[in-house]
Amino acid sequence: MKIALSILTVDYKNVSKGLEELLPLVDYIHMDVMDGEFVPNISFGPAFIKSLRPLTEKPFDTHLMIKHPQNYIKQFVDSGSDYITFHVEADCDIIKTIDLIHSYGVKAGISIKPNTAVEKIKDYLPYVDMVLVMSVEPGFGGQSFMENSINKVKELSELKKQNNYGYLINIDGGIKDITAPLISNYVDMAVVGSYICNASNPKENALRIKNI
Ligand code: DX5
Ligand code: ZN
Repeated sequence: MKIALSILTVDYKNVSKGLEELLPLVDYIHMDVMDGEFVPNISFGPAFIKSLRPLTEKPFDTHLMIKHPQNYIKQFVDSGSDYITFHVEADCDIIKTIDLIHSYGVKAGISIKPNTAVEKIKDYLPYVDMVLVMSVEPGFGGQSFMENSINKVKELSELKKQNNYGYLINIDGGIKDITAPLISNYVDMAVVGSYICNASNPKENALRIKNI
């Protein structure tokens, strides 16, 4: 399974060193941006992402857990993001925000929190390049996988086939060796944070997920 490595719980004083070992094993770098309003935590912004851009050619999968994503799209484009994913629960015009991301030649993603049904994003599926299903309440790494996300990725996988949609199905939160098999048949990729970054042997854990 393709891995988007979430660096939220990485050791910030040694990010580039930590990434060096892991970059060959992952497919995307997942950037968890938090504003302390949309979620009860603050992480990092566009300048931090920009500082990491020279480290790798791997796509940056930027996850905006922010209240007003429309106001910051340009900054996250300039930071080198390849995908910019925002939440349907955020305070913005969804279609305008998707179009704004696309106007810069960047891929647009939409994300739903655990309590948000797939129904809520059905109208946007023809226009997005990624759907990010949260399998934890956004805000923190290291939380437990929420099983109600399985039906959502199953539904999104069926909708994609029936309608020949182009979006990647991504899932985010609590993905590890025991939870990845529950969703691997329905997703194109998965976000993995603490199971790799906080592991005693990160490489071994990354390979375990990759081989599922
Ligand atoms: C949570 C973030 C996730 C999280 C994943 O709000 O969106 O990307 O960092 O970390 P783990 O894999 O530890 O749940
Ligand atoms: Zn995330």
